[in-house]
Amino acid sequence: LKQIPLFESMADVERQQLSTLLQRRQLRKGGILFRKGDKGSAFFIIIKGLVKISVSSKLGDEVTLALLRNGDFFGEMALLDEQPRSADAVALEDSLLYVLDRNDFFPFLFKNENAVRSILRALSLRLRRADDLFTEISFLTVPARLAKRLVELAEPLESQRSEPKEYKIRMSQRELASMLGVTRESINKELKILKDKGLVETSRNSILIRDIDRLKRRTR
Ligand code: CMP
Repeated sequence: LKQIPLFESMADVERQQLSTLLQRRQLRKGGILFRKGDKGSAFFIIIKGLVKISVSSKLGDEVTLALLRNGDFFGEMALLDEQPRSADAVALEDSLLYVLDRNDFFPFLFKNENAVRSILRALSLRLRRADDLFTEISFLTVPARLAKRLVELAEPLESQRSEPKEYKIRMSQRELASMLGVTRESINKELKILKDKGLVETSRNSILIRDIDRLKRRTR
């Protein structure tokens, strides 16, 4: 438990007590934890793995709201506002989670000032991101948003760590579309334009950025 940021500043006795309340849950890759609209029955902390928080339209288009990893937590919203789950939660890798039952959630918070602080900080950060995204959607075109996201996600190629010239993004076009909240077709079209101009190269599950400076100029 000490390894989990949410619990790290708890006293040993408190952690000991908490450990008796936490269940462990294993999820296979693709396993669904809950769906938007479900009743919120628990709070989750990721010990190991990758969980996607997303919402889907009736036609099956999907928007990824967040990718959560080791140490991250989720499922607090339905417990805090007593509304149904606000999004789907699905494991993208085999994952191991701690589960805290809804009845133990508030008693846990009341005893742990630092946990409250962490959860408030996470909620604030999410609202900030949501506001940024809303601003982006209001003010930027799809090409500019794509360029901005590509620059944000770009990682220097292993072989060029010290003086990177080219960058890689390990993500499929479908995942990228889902992150930007636009259709895959429009992402394909925009990537083709960038490709024809020599700014990027695309393959099945990754994108290579050949000219990041020119890409940066397209983010406005
Ligand atoms: P809850 O509504 O109970 O179930 C879905 C969970 O996804 C939600 O609680 C949050 O924990 C999490 N979640 C929802 N929206 C976001 C977001 N934008 N960023 C990160 N996590 C989110």
